[in-house]
Amino acid sequence: MDSTSQMADFSESNFIQALSLGKTEKTPVWFMRQAGRSLPEYRAIRGVGSILDAVANPSLAAEITMQPVKRYGVDAAILYSDIIVPVHACGFGIDIIPGTGPTTDRPFEGESDLKRLANFDAKTDTGYVLSTIEILKKELEVPLIGFAGGPFTVASYLIEGKPSRNFIKTKQMMYTQPKLFESLLWRLTEITVDFLSAQAQSGVNAIQLFDSWVGALSPREYRRFITPCASEIFSSLSKFNIPMISFGTNTSELLGLFVEAGASAVGLDSNTEITTATKRLGDKVAIQGNLDPVVCLTSVDNIISQARQVLMDSAFAPGYVFNLGHGVLPETDPTKLVELVDFLHQNGEEIRKN
Ligand code: CP3
Repeated sequence: MDSTSQMADFSESNFIQALSLGKTEKTPVWFMRQAGRSLPEYRAIRGVGSILDAVANPSLAAEITMQPVKRYGVDAAILYSDIIVPVHACGFGIDIIPGTGPTTDRPFEGESDLKRLANFDAKTDTGYVLSTIEILKKELEVPLIGFAGGPFTVASYLIEGKPSRNFIKTKQMMYTQPKLFESLLWRLTEITVDFLSAQAQSGVNAIQLFDSWVGALSPREYRRFITPCASEIFSSLSKFNIPMISFGTNTSELLGLFVEAGASAVGLDSNTEITTATKRLGDKVAIQGNLDPVVCLTSVDNIISQARQVLMDSAFAPGYVFNLGHGVLPETDPTKLVELVDFLHQNGEEIRKN
């Protein structure tokens, strides 16, 4: 590959154009969790053990990142990594159990646990992620999305010690030890700024902040605890001039706050209507989403008719990227996603403009 493609900023690509509210010739599409267990080629090379070991192997991680680009023809690649990577790398003592998710035997309980997050330097502790980006910059012909977990979502795994439905321990800490909770969120914010800045310096073309579970908070709670953190993250990253997408599930009441904090685009889950979000957020923000991932388990005809509805709903979005409302389910038949991407590329702009 020649040096110009190594230097490509992809600013003219449909994906970056859509996020920057520019012109698109085709509707851009990528899928959250596009790399993963729904792909047989992923299962074939992923190996056993923790996903964190696979992430720490740059040539393997780069190959896995490219698999969905090759298979689906999506308009962006997302780095094969995990939201738990930096807190794992700084030695907190957390792992990802296959089929369960992030788990620790020693949950975050008090002031002294902050010491377990004290040392993090993205370049030394997660150099392998930056090496993966370097490989991908040479190989990829589409933009690369870097990402990190949002402070609430990562804090919830550290405090609960495992995936949680109601976030009881997390919210109890927020209500009864707000200073401790704030100290944790703030330390995670510093780690996230360092981690995302390093990814941006290494050349990712956009970033997404996955605060997947922050919809468990009310707008008042978000404003008090998360707005300062999210504002710090987005303002620190703004100097890189790359689109910054904020995503969380059940966040229809929080979308305006994402934008106030500095996100340039919002990812919608399937419970939020694109038309409503567009009306609320006005003409300065790009929208990404939001086909229900369960729809992708039904027939191709049904997938396409529901995708058509999503496209029609997005007609007034000032910039629009097709995605699912949450991650690709492991049960998804990849051949159906190939058909979906083809349909979107062939018909997306025409449906959106009529
Ligand atoms: O393709 C992509 O989107 C890129 C890679 C990616 C992974 N995790 C790889 C992964 C991304 C963006 C994530 C983000 C992530 N991780 C989130 C936010 C997005 C969301 O889904 O809300 C969250 C909450 C996590 C935490 C996490 N990691 C969970 C809940 C799990 C599932 C556990 C399981 O096995 O069911 C993981 C593991 C994980 N991260 C896998 C992958 C491909 C799957 C299993 C594996 O190969 O071990």
